[in-house]
Amino acid sequence: MKKTKHLAVFASGTGSNFDAIQQAIEEGALDSDITLVVSDVPTSAVIDKAKQKGLKTFVFNPQSYPNKRAFEIEIVEALQRADADYIILAGYMRLIGATLLHAYEGKIVNIHPSLLPSFKGLDAIGQAFDAGVKITGVTIHYVDEGMDTGRIIAQEAVKVEDTYGRDDLQRAIQAVEHRLYPTTIQTLLKQ
Ligand code: GRF
Repeated sequence: MKKTKHLAVFASGTGSNFDAIQQAIEEGALDSDITLVVSDVPTSAVIDKAKQKGLKTFVFNPQSYPNKRAFEIEIVEALQRADADYIILAGYMRLIGATLLHAYEGKIVNIHPSLLPSFKGLDAIGQAFDAGVKITGVTIHYVDEGMDTGRIIAQEAVKVEDTYGRDDLQRAIQAVEHRLYPTTIQTLLKQ
């Protein structure tokens, strides 16, 4: 029998995508489990949520390490202890370095709130809104050494209605994210 693949979710903030993934697991729509939640922000809401669910966490303060390699070595050790197979980035606000990329080659996935390659980087929703585009969306992609440059796995368009303010657009995008991320992960795990 095939082993169930374990997920490690990396997040720095609110964790609404973490919630969506966890909920899909609880409902049986995603055939996996979250064996570790990693955060570079000790006070992040996602860590409170993970603890409430009784999940293992690895929280670190990047400023306590001399460089990225030093904290990524510890992350890899925590991932191995947790038997994690995939790294799911869900609002993790740092570029992944060589140490993690080599340890989890082809197994790191990110969600980005635009139709890449448009609007890479920070505040993609604000960038799209300010540019006045009529269509934006959500991209799920593999992670490489660049910022939002890895191979695209799935995309879904979101129409920017004329009545939308920036917050309306954010709500519309996040609604798509919360559906698309769990279903895309499920498809990946079955490959
Ligand atoms: C999401 O919009 C995701 O696309 C981006 O960061 C945001 C994280 O939101 N990478 P949340 O913490 O999951 O609510």
